[in-house]
Amino acid sequence: MERIQIIDAKNHVGQTVQIGAWVANKRSSGKIAFLQLRDGTAYFQGVVVKSEVAEETFQLAKNLNQETAVLITGEIREDTRSKFGYEIGIAGIEVVGESHEYPITPKEHGTDFLMDHRHLWLRSSKQHAIMQIRNELIRATYEFFNQNGFVKIDPPILTGSAPEGTTDLFETNYFDQKAYLSQSGQLYMEAAAMAFGKVFSFGPTFRAEKSKTRRHLIEFWMIEPEMAFAHQEESLEVQEQYVAFLVQSVLDNCDYALHVLERDRNVLEKYTQLPFPRISYDDAIELLKKNGFEDIEWGDDFGSPHETFIANSFDRPVFILNYPKAIKPFYMKPHPTREDVVICADMIAPEGYGEIIGGSERATDYEYLLEQIKTHGLDPEEYAWYLDLRKYGSVPHAGFGLGLERTVTWLAGIEHVREAIPFPRLLNRIYP
Ligand code: 4AD
Ligand code: MG
Repeated sequence: MERIQIIDAKNHVGQTVQIGAWVANKRSSGKIAFLQLRDGTAYFQGVVVKSEVAEETFQLAKNLNQETAVLITGEIREDTRSKFGYEIGIAGIEVVGESHEYPITPKEHGTDFLMDHRHLWLRSSKQHAIMQIRNELIRATYEFFNQNGFVKIDPPILTGSAPEGTTDLFETNYFDQKAYLSQSGQLYMEAAAMAFGKVFSFGPTFRAEKSKTRRHLIEFWMIEPEMAFAHQEESLEVQEQYVAFLVQSVLDNCDYALHVLERDRNVLEKYTQLPFPRISYDDAIELLKKNGFEDIEWGDDFGSPHETFIANSFDRPVFILNYPKAIKPFYMKPHPTREDVVICADMIAPEGYGEIIGGSERATDYEYLLEQIKTHGLDPEEYAWYLDLRKYGSVPHAGFGLGLERTVTWLAGIEHVREAIPFPRLLNRIYP
């Protein structure tokens, strides 16, 4: 007898198979028992009919506790009433691992309780669907960049540099020196772009941010492409193509997950249409002021109500271009005709999900960068290697960083970024 995964049930209709699964839920009457089975690939129903199995099998089915691990044998049938479309008519059940008083019951639980039980909460169908979308974004990211001639380069996690400012660094001891956990691989990716042309990284990122919002994690994953001989406009095109590709991949390959999450496919379809609109920082400030936002002035960074208002003015992700130099990192290219702004863009997701990409063209002038490094209170000696890149064949280059969890949160249509990563690290949480 063949052992199959639930996801492959459609290829085994009419066959008797074996499945290793957990009992997610159960209901029964005097004559029939329905087991909600999950094996990690999908969820479907197992049906035990009293008159068709041994009496002890029926009694076993009726008494299975939630999350008992079982080996099920039975015949795969079509089940037109369920979205999944198939079920198993159970002939035999073998208990592999007992389960007693599973803490997450089908009733509602508070968020803190669920977060304390994240190691078990991951088994529930909604969390499972979110992780499938995350997995699809990871898969599609490699496909997109490989198809477009980018080389994957891994920047270090332990580093001496602080590209995104010194306030939210995780400091650690590196023998007798101090080091930081990476808050962005970008500076290393710039070196890599000068060696390989078009590169991307995909790695963990750490920020000791004291923000407790639904968009902030302490540890998150970022994809950072960097392109040599490229100006900002070309980078914006790669960004919108990449994001549209991610959305399309989820539409193509995550139908079941979208169904579980009740995410409307028609809403997502709109996000595959290019180009994405672009609005300058200056115009975004004007737009906000005209619409009753009195708390914002030119020079301020946007808060989440501002980003949401700007996003709601468009039906797709939107780029906000050229922010004030004073609120952006040291490495961004200065504007050719204006002192006060830099050549950069943030991509803001629709529906109030906020910034998913930050990127810029990079400054290429040695003297300018040296000056900026000092102005930002950084030690030029720590950045000597980075300045070297401007001494030996410096070229125009641009890149960006996309936050994986923010993108998962948006495409899955969920409330909070903490559900977009298997084991979230939050301001007040490192357990489990
Ligand atoms: O805008 P950020 O800070 O950009 C950079 O780090 C650049 N060095 C990237 C580059 O040009 N190579 O971060 C990029 C993205 C944000 O747009 C957001 O999606 C995500 O990373 N991000 C976070 N996601 C979750 N939790 C946090 N605390 C995040 N901080 C940034
Ligand atoms: Mg940013």
